[in-house]
Amino acid sequence: MRGECSLLFLAAVMLLGGCTDDPKEKGFEVFPDMVHSVPFQPYSKNPLTADGKTMLPPVRGTVARGTEPYPYGSTDEDRAKASRELKNPIPLTAQALARGKEVYQHMCLVCHGVSGQGDGPIIPKFPNPPSFSTKRIKELTDGALYHIITRGSGLMPPHALQILPQDRWKLVHYVNGLRGVGKNE
Ligand code: HEC
Repeated sequence: MRGECSLLFLAAVMLLGGCTDDPKEKGFEVFPDMVHSVPFQPYSKNPLTADGKTMLPPVRGTVARGTEPYPYGSTDEDRAKASRELKNPIPLTAQALARGKEVYQHMCLVCHGVSGQGDGPIIPKFPNPPSFSTKRIKELTDGALYHIITRGSGLMPPHALQILPQDRWKLVHYVNGLRGVGKNE
């Protein structure tokens, strides 16, 4: 008991030893290593780097965690390339279709309509999209569809920020059903 009391007393003295009236004064430093950091602070000047900053920009080609780079831009050539090269990596399953449908209803239906006829509730306040059952849309590859969703097309806005890559592919499965192509016809 006596030992515990002296320990408590010692702890109180150490804690109170850190108190002063001056808010800028750090007081008695029990663990100086924790007060004065050995490494450079992120925003401090740095004599060792070329630009004098401690925080370095990521090296070229760095991919942020949790993101997937999309190498095709918005040009016609890139669209043609994506259309040829991209293949749907997600197998066609009931779950994938169900998710595709859900994403379609949230993100596309408003303009393209329940069955993809281009007659969504926002039309005619927004220009009429083409019907998915036209020959031209039926001839688009899965890759082209994925690219259109990712980068947009003409007046249609891109959806890369709103829809995760795997959901975009599930959406492709669902849209294939609407346009009457593929196994899901
Ligand atoms: C804000 C309304 C709007 C939304 C939301 C929208 N679209 Fe579109 N979409 C359009 C319009 C308008 C066009 C015709 C664009 C043009 O030719 O200028 C179009 C065109 C398309 C085309 C044909 C593109 C081409 O190059 O021929 C496809 C495929 C398509 N949309 C799929 C989708 C899918 C899938 C979604 C859901 C992620 C979606 N759209 C969301 C308005 C929309």
